[in-house]
Amino acid sequence: MPIPGDLLLVDDVPSAFAEHVVEAFRTRERDTFSIALSGGDTARRCYERLAVEGGSEIDWWKVDVYWGDERCVPHDHQDSNYLLAREALLDRVGAANATHLMRCTEGTDPYQLRLGDLGRLDLIHLGLGPDGHTASLFPGSAALDADPGRLVAMNEDPTGNNIHPRMTLTFAGIARSHTVLVTVSGEEKAEALARIQAGEDLPAAHIRSERLIWLVDEAAASHLAR
Ligand code: 6PG
Repeated sequence: MPIPGDLLLVDDVPSAFAEHVVEAFRTRERDTFSIALSGGDTARRCYERLAVEGGSEIDWWKVDVYWGDERCVPHDHQDSNYLLAREALLDRVGAANATHLMRCTEGTDPYQLRLGDLGRLDLIHLGLGPDGHTASLFPGSAALDADPGRLVAMNEDPTGNNIHPRMTLTFAGIARSHTVLVTVSGEEKAEALARIQAGEDLPAAHIRSERLIWLVDEAAASHLAR
């Protein structure tokens, strides 16, 4: 069973990510460009590269920033995905047109309504966990079965391996996108990627989008049947 979408084997995941974001910005359909950011170490490296390679190529005054998921911690907490994006990208490229933080204390409705007003996100960046999770959609977690009308859900990792309660896009929320880029880097992701290829029902196997692109390096692709 193939991995859904297109898998691109790349030497440098952060650089390939930056190139694809610049291209998506350049070919955007509206004047503004909406992007939902991820968390994690791969994302941090991708955003640091985007700040350099996309700093002048992208007019950040035209970019509306969203999040694909967030940990339910203060936005100045070291584990906050908002703080990660600020440190790695937003503080380096100057003011974006708008930043739409996920605020757990408000519940999911404000974000659901905001995404409803937007219609579709131009680009969603997702990562892949070693357990096959993406965003904060963890194996065996409640949000996997969210009502199809829900674009956003509160969620937790039932194993406790991924700490903090979360707010996350659901599969329906992820599907409301023109493009999804999934960045997968390193040997520790090879098994999860191979399990998806083998047809296992892991959360990341359910990512759908109008255009779904996996940016994968050799180490992460090392267990794939080719
Ligand atoms: C999060 C992310 C999560 C991440 C993967 C990969 O909030 O933690 O959204 O889905 O993308 O866990 O993270 P690494 O790149 O650190 O392995």
